[in-house]
Parts: sequence; C-alpha cells; structure tokens
Amino acid sequence: MNYMMKIKGGSTLNGTVKAQGAKNAALPIMAASLLIKGGTLKLNRVPGLKDISTMADLLRHLGVKIEFAKNAMSLQVPEDLGWETPSDLVRKMRASSLVLGPLLARCGKAVLPLPGGCSIGSRPIDLHLKGLARMGAEIELIHGSVHAKAKGLRGGRIYLDFPSVGATENLLMAAVFAKGETLLENAAREPEIGNLIDVLNSMGGKISEKSSGEILIEGVEELHGVESWIIPDRIEASTYLLAGVITKGTITVEDVNISHVDALLAKLEEMAVPFSCRERSVTVFPCEKPHAVSLKTLPFPGFPTDLQPQVMAAMTLAEGTSIIQESVFESRFRHVSELNKMGSSIDVQGNTAIIKGVRELVGADVHATDLRAGAALILAGLAAHDVTNVFNIGHVYRGYEDIQTKLQSLGGNVDISQSEKTYPKVNDI
Ligand code: EPZ
Repeated sequence: MNYMMKIKGGSTLNGTVKAQGAKNAALPIMAASLLIKGGTLKLNRVPGLKDISTMADLLRHLGVKIEFAKNAMSLQVPEDLGWETPSDLVRKMRASSLVLGPLLARCGKAVLPLPGGCSIGSRPIDLHLKGLARMGAEIELIHGSVHAKAKGLRGGRIYLDFPSVGATENLLMAAVFAKGETLLENAAREPEIGNLIDVLNSMGGKISEKSSGEILIEGVEELHGVESWIIPDRIEASTYLLAGVITKGTITVEDVNISHVDALLAKLEEMAVPFSCRERSVTVFPCEKPHAVSLKTLPFPGFPTDLQPQVMAAMTLAEGTSIIQESVFESRFRHVSELNKMGSSIDVQGNTAIIKGVRELVGADVHATDLRAGAALILAGLAAHDVTNVFNIGHVYRGYEDIQTKLQSLGGNVDISQSEKTYPKVNDI
C-alpha cells in the first residue's frame, strides 16, 4: 500500500526537536556485531526506521538475536553464523552490502546478491570488492551474486579511488582480524566512520585514523561484546533547521554534534540566516528572504550530498540565483521536476542545478523518489500556499523517525494517509 503526506502549507514552524540517532552510523555498527563470536552488542540512540528494521531482519537471518525497544538495541551474536544473504532483503536496502566485510572476516565466506542501482545512481560496489581482493579474498560473480571466500584475510595498503563511505566501512570491518596491519588510504572521513571506529575499538579492535583519509587497522584475534552509543543524525538535524529557514520560524534542534553540521552552518551564514549554537544544540531564527548561495557536494568535510535536495528546496525562495553542483552521485536531481511543479524555477544542466529564487511556492501533487528528495518536497510543502500531497512517502520513513509527530510538534499541518494513487516504483536506495 502506498502512503502519502498531506501538507497544508503556509504556517511558520517554531519550537524544539531532538535529533534522532544517525541512520548511517547505526547500519554499519549493527553489521559490525557479526564480528563478535558469541557475545552481545548493546546500542543506544538507535533510530526507529524502516532501514534499521531491514538490517535487523538481515542479521536475524544470519543467526543474530535482536531485541529493539525505545531506541535501545541488543544484538546477541552466536558462535556459528550464516553467511548467505537473502536477495529480497539486499535488494530492499543497499546498506545490506555492509555485512560482506564482517562475514568474510568472521566466517571466511559470504554470498551477497549485488545490490541494484537506484534513483540517485548506479551505486556499484566495485571499490568494496577491489579492496577485499587486495586483502586476499577470492571474489566470483555468479548469477548476479557476489560469492566471496578467504582462508584468512591479510593486511596491506589499500588505496580507495574514491573516498566511498560504504567501501571504507566494509574494508575497515574486514581488516579487524586480518593478519598484520591494513592501511586504508583516501578513505571516507564522515562522522559515521568515526562512530564505527570508536565502537570497534571498544569491542577490542586496534584502529586509528592516522591523518586525513588514512585509517590504520592492526589485526586482532577476536572482538567482545560492549555497550555503546550511536551519534546524533547530522542530516536529520539539518533538515529540521532548514524547516525553520523555509517557513521563517525559530527552530531549535537539540542533541546535535555541532562539528558535524559545520558545512550547513557555513551556508546559513552565507544565506544571512541568523542562528545560534549552544554546546549540543543549534537554533535558527526567522529570516524574511535568505540570500541565494552556491555549493558543490563533496565527501566529508565538504557539503554533504544527503543535504543537497533540502538546501535546494530552501533556495527556491531565496533572494537571487543559487548554483548547486552534485559531484557525489550521478543523478541526484530527481526532486527538481517535482519542485518545479510547485512553482520553483530550477534549471538542470548536467550535474549542476540553477535555482532562481521565486516569490512563492504553490501546493501540488508530487512524489518522493528517494528519502532526501522526499524530505525536500516536505520542506517545500510546508512553505507553499495551499495543500501539497507528497506520494511514495515510504521513502522518507527510511530515514526520518516520527517525522509527522516532530513536524506537528513544530506547528506543521501534516497528515499521513493511505493512497491508491501510485507512481512508478523507484528502487529503494
Ligand atoms: C553512504 O552511501 C550513505 N548511506 C548515503 O546516504 C550517502 O549519500 C553516501 O554514503 C555518500 O555520503 C549509508 O551510509 C547507508 P558511497 P554509500 O560509497 O556508502 C560511488 C542517505 O540518504 N561508488 O560513498 O553507498 C557511488 O556510486 C543515503 O542516507 C563507486 O563507484 O555511498 C557514488 O557515486 C543516500 N563504487 C559515490 O561513490 C563503489 O564501490 C559515493 O558512494 C562505491 C561507491
């Protein structure tokens, strides 16, 4: 069944919300539980999201016992694990590929259906496989599935052609038991990687971030259970701050790691949007018409691609013309045509979008193509006159916990209802 969000736009949002746990930290850290041989990993601040449930189902399929309530999760890992992953789950969520490294490290073998492409790009995992092969894994592609095996992974130097988040995480986890030292070069530096490293070290790993983009992993014999925390979600937090910007309200987001949202704060300054920071919270204040800004999405610490659609929504009502260049994914502008249905004036030329600020947006029937595009359409709907219906809202549930309740608590007039109307199904990301 499809669900849609009905948004009666035009009201200013004001109030305080708390950031959820980071989806993109929780997923690899859940996968890391596979590295424990007969023990329990306890995690706090785990967000209640569709993707988290999908990862939990995948781990249960491999033999892990999982209990999850009120953002606290315990993962009880048996001595013996399964090592074949079911295609229905892997195809549902690309991040399922993050079990590949831990399974190879722990069981010496793994079968993983190749995750398909999605609405934002082809999303290959060639860098993951190339790195694992460098560590001695034998990789075969049979009927669209990766069959990997390794008698024992060995350390070495692995240079990543692109600082891929997923490849960094998979190789990091694969290297934990590898013989000798593994040096990952040109690795991703997103805060979620740091969270994974901290949890692995608290489980008995020996991992250090040498310098920008270099991670050194010393192979150890085994890892043990531990209790740890997921960091706050910097993308979700930033999305609510942008809800304040686009509706000219005063919104405070609590439980934010300020250093993780630096790129957005720098852009708020350029927009001349007033904001203030306290130790663990950020508040944006009303701004009649933010200045247009230009940005290029880049790997961390550059501007995050996961915030590109939401900033674009805010810039549709800016003073002036903004230029947004998407350099991380090859087709992450599917929200543009939907925003233009609401009266925005956005022109796409290759991987660059030119956004001319307009006076107002008007409600329309639009559909979400992925979770961040869906978030952008919700922001636009909150600012638009009249009613906006965002279809395929299930995408948004993958990454935004209790979004309807949170928006209503800020004064947003939003309702969720089932909808017969279906749009062309797009692959999940
Ligand atoms: C992670 O995806 C995030 N997902 C994405 O968030 C995020 O957009 C992305 O990193 C970039 O920051 C999770 O962490 C679960 P990549 P990931 O490997 O690991 C290419 C969201 O909205 N590439 O850094 O899949 C790839 O095609 C989601 O929460 C290869 O070519 O991203 C892309 O163009 C969306 N070969 C670029 O690198 C590979 O082997 C970045 O991908 C791997 C990646």
